[in-house]
Amino acid sequence: MKTITAILTGIVSEAFEKCGYDAKLGNVIVSDRLDLCQFQCNGAFQGAKLYRKAPIIIAKEVAQVLSENPVFAKVEAVNPAFINMTVTDEYLSSVCAEIAEDEFCGIPQVEEETTVVIDYGGPNVAKPLHIGHLRSAVIGEALKRLARSCGMKVIGDVHLGDWGMPMGLVIAELMERNPDWACFKEDFDPAKDEVPTLDVNELNEIYPFASAKSKQDEAFKDKAHTITAQLQARKPGYYSLWKEIIRASVEDLKKSYEKLSVDFDYWYGESDADDYIPKLLKILEDKGLMYESDGAMIVDVAQETDKAPMPPVLIKKTDGSVLYDTTDLATIIQREEDFKPSDIWYVVDKRQALHFEQCFRCSKLAGLVGEDTSLEHLGFGTMNGSDGKPYKTRDGGVMQLSMLLDTAYNAAYERINKENFTSEEEISQTAQKLAIASIKFGDLINHRSKDYIFDLDKFLSAEGKTGAYLLYMVTRISSVLRKLEVCDEGKIEIGKIYTDAERELMLGIALTGEAFSHAIAERAPNYICENAYQLAVSFSKFYHDNHIVSEEDEEKKTAWINLLRLVKKMIVKHLDVLAIEPVERM
Ligand code: ARG
Repeated sequence: MKTITAILTGIVSEAFEKCGYDAKLGNVIVSDRLDLCQFQCNGAFQGAKLYRKAPIIIAKEVAQVLSENPVFAKVEAVNPAFINMTVTDEYLSSVCAEIAEDEFCGIPQVEEETTVVIDYGGPNVAKPLHIGHLRSAVIGEALKRLARSCGMKVIGDVHLGDWGMPMGLVIAELMERNPDWACFKEDFDPAKDEVPTLDVNELNEIYPFASAKSKQDEAFKDKAHTITAQLQARKPGYYSLWKEIIRASVEDLKKSYEKLSVDFDYWYGESDADDYIPKLLKILEDKGLMYESDGAMIVDVAQETDKAPMPPVLIKKTDGSVLYDTTDLATIIQREEDFKPSDIWYVVDKRQALHFEQCFRCSKLAGLVGEDTSLEHLGFGTMNGSDGKPYKTRDGGVMQLSMLLDTAYNAAYERINKENFTSEEEISQTAQKLAIASIKFGDLINHRSKDYIFDLDKFLSAEGKTGAYLLYMVTRISSVLRKLEVCDEGKIEIGKIYTDAERELMLGIALTGEAFSHAIAERAPNYICENAYQLAVSFSKFYHDNHIVSEEDEEKKTAWINLLRLVKKMIVKHLDVLAIEPVERM
């Protein structure tokens, strides 16, 4: 269904036309002074310039036509030339009734077929997930669900970091520790020799160790380089060992993502781009874009209008090994062949902006994607500690995701009212959901491009813009519905409006479509968080003002119950898009 402002824009545009003005002047927006009116149109200002007339005259003429329309309870032309509008309660409740029936909860659906590949998560194999990867997973999952809720076809790809120097470092260190493994022998035969089963905890310990060692030990670093190049050339022993590293690591990553309700349609990695590299090289060569410089193959992507230096894209090093730019470019070819996407969105730290700008320019120059394919780097800011610096462990190390989740779980567990539950299992499941909801909402409420401070106490507070507050409000609605023994299934019949608080709540519900339009246009889930919060606040006011359980007027009571059911459904829909699971009690 259309958003309410789109419907009203249609009506107001017609009124402009009827008065002899351009219909385009009839754009309606939500009022920023809800105490004065619900909607407004500022088209008379522009009309005044076009038709050389006093703006207030135009506003008055149009308001006159609108006041005859039964949709409006009040239309006013206000100095200097605003057209202020408030719809009737009947109209507002009819919009809510339509939303209650709509399979998309009133979220406007895209008109053109849109296929989006979302590249998010981006964990690196053999490295434990750290909080830098948390944001990509949380924001990416929300964007994926947001795009789906708007009717886009979306493919989520984790794009594992599994093909670069870190792999060489891990293999080099494994070799130092286990020189007698068959995979390190020159005559290794994958058909009959076996590689040992690896333990992910050991892998997680090896990478930081090997990385630190490479910074002091040149010979070790050179060895890791050579191994990386040989792995990329698929030397059998290294390649078999690498497959085992991937297996162990991916199994562990899947568990972590599952805890976060994050899931991917594809578990492709940088290594899967390898098959497309010869094609990439051929295209770059045929188009005359690639040339040799200092022994490496590069492509210039600078433009005359650049204000900052734009380094060339590095495609291939002297030793034949490929780089981050190369795998990203080759992956674009793969995605184009497999999915023909209209958009590719990269949910990656904003500090990688230059890398993506280089890749996007190179793809367009080489024609890897069509002119209208939208390549977007949806960069995000840093999660900081209270000192404003990237969040660290107490002893200053990199905070691992599992440690963070444990801390949040313990804090959430403390806050749960144990009397509401009959089993320990229920308590721990609820604590788990509360912890995740708090962390995710605390992240998503900020515009993705901004840095934010991780403050667990604040995130877990049952007051303010928090995940805990939203879960709490859902439990309150559920508890009223339980008390009244209402069956929360089947058609939601929206009735009359009796009080101001209901009007405000219904307006909030009716404006959900706008919030989703805004969020998808900006690729910014924080607008979904804001809207969910507004709905919860309006519910709370409504609940405070009216005694639903003890109400004697049956018709009123039924209308209120149905409104509760609808607001619950709407908040839960918002939470679902944010990949946050609600709870029935807490
Ligand atoms: N693995 C990379 C990192 O940890 C992120 C990958 C992002 N996606 C991409 N297509 N480059 O920085």
